[in-house]
Amino acid sequence: MGEKELILKAVEAQKNSYSPYSDFPVGAALLCSTGEIFTGVNVENVSFGLTNCAERTAIFKAISEGKRNFEAIAIVGKDTYLSPCGACRQVMAEFCDKDFRVIFAKNENDYIIKTLGEILPFSFSEEDMK
Ligand code: THU
Repeated sequence: MGEKELILKAVEAQKNSYSPYSDFPVGAALLCSTGEIFTGVNVENVSFGLTNCAERTAIFKAISEGKRNFEAIAIVGKDTYLSPCGACRQVMAEFCDKDFRVIFAKNENDYIIKTLGEILPFSFSEEDMK
């Protein structure tokens, strides 16, 4: 599964974004180690704090379908390299290794790739609880 294909899945999903308050649709596509892809969109609410980001939607969909191993996520916003919010990074850290690839995409031809370790260094983890 190439980056371009994953980005195109995120672009397709973005059309289903429910974002009437921000007018900022986001789409995400999560690649499982099985090769399966789970997409997600941001789902807003009139009580703004209840909004769920696209990345977490995709991750929660995959987790609730029994998936546990992930390789990459592509994220598309509005013509910027959308950098995942802190909450989404922490949720990624719960389920993904430090070499998990996070693809910030403007489109399938214009994107940057970071690892989770790069975008969430010194993260709080289970180790800290011991
Ligand atoms: N949003 C995401 O879906 N992912 C992010 O990583 C950042 C923000 C959404 C939440 C809200 O619906 C809109 O973008 C504006 O913040």
